Amino acid sequence: AAASSTAFTQTQLPPLKVGLMLPATGTFAALGDMIERGFKLHVEEQGGKLGGRTIQYFKVDDESDPSKATDNVNKLIKRDNVDVIVGTVHSGVALAMARAAKDSNTMLIVPNAGADAITGPQCAPNIFRSSFSNWQPGYATGVVAAGKGYKRAMTITWNYAAGNETVKGFTEAFEKGGGKVIKDLSLPFPGVEFQPLLTEIASQKPDVVFAFFAGGGAVKFVKDYDAAGLKKSIPLVGSGFLTDGTLEAQGASAQGLITALHYGDNIETPRNTAFRNKFAVTYKVNPDVYALQGYDAAQMLAIGLATVKGDLGKKDALYAAMNKAQIDSPRGKFTLSPQRNPTQDFYVREVKGNYNVVTGIAVKALADPGRGCKP
Ligand code: BEZ
Repeated sequence: AAASSTAFTQTQLPPLKVGLMLPATGTFAALGDMIERGFKLHVEEQGGKLGGRTIQYFKVDDESDPSKATDNVNKLIKRDNVDVIVGTVHSGVALAMARAAKDSNTMLIVPNAGADAITGPQCAPNIFRSSFSNWQPGYATGVVAAGKGYKRAMTITWNYAAGNETVKGFTEAFEKGGGKVIKDLSLPFPGVEFQPLLTEIASQKPDVVFAFFAGGGAVKFVKDYDAAGLKKSIPLVGSGFLTDGTLEAQGASAQGLITALHYGDNIETPRNTAFRNKFAVTYKVNPDVYALQGYDAAQMLAIGLATVKGDLGKKDALYAAMNKAQIDSPRGKFTLSPQRNPTQDFYVREVKGNYNVVTGIAVKALADPGRGCKP
């Protein structure tokens, strides 16, 4: 991306071009929408400017389709010549974005997708994440499930990076805690043909089922699990995406479900209360974890740009400021790991009404191991 000339004075700096590559259609559409709202809310809180520069948005609907991801991200990099890319939700799409960002040295802030490689083997100084690595919520949920004394688990997810890596994190912690994963079930993304898999769960009768689904697919899975009669016989746990942004649609089927995630609706700090109130007043809807991650992506960018006074040419100073920042997130303050992934607390949550209510801490200050990142 183009560096702005240091000859400009602050007021003369051109708008900062921010490329939002998010899903606007498909099973993750609502997630993309919440990320965008969260990001823009923080920008508005800063008077519509970051580092003294107004923001100009460029948008691409990535459709959560990895086969279109390279073309889509190049619309932002090559056609629109954006300064920063913010995206996306889907891990497979994000992996292609990370490759293009690294090759073109365009700054990328990932506001959701957990693909472990982005802050692992594919890490780069210009790539940051405001969300989580897939390993993290999987691992945290494994700690919770083992702590409840469950011994035999089955897992179920979509067969793609996010599903498989989350299940791996779960299995690592669950087996370390004395349990055993007896069988992994999966279906292609974004399929919702759960019936044959639910039949298999019913016949195997594990102590617990771990699920990774999100968005529209999570709504359908939680309802189908209940409708199949499994909710009353086999406890269902998940990384918190299973019940985040989905509760109104899931209704009674989600009540009482236990999940682990780096956010919960009722964190009673002035920071979270202010965020939630502002979001609700602005958009007439409550925020969820995706809104939070979009908001924090803007906070991270704001910190970096403030340090270099909007001059993206000062990349070393910009990245250094972001790397060492403590982000005052509504989730609780967090820092970035050396691989630029949030080191953060994971909460135990229980669904009560339309809220994911925090009932405890699953793991404090959980850092992704960052395996394979050569800085
Ligand atoms: C992912 O693909 O990384 C993902 C999608 C939705 C929720 C969480 C992770």
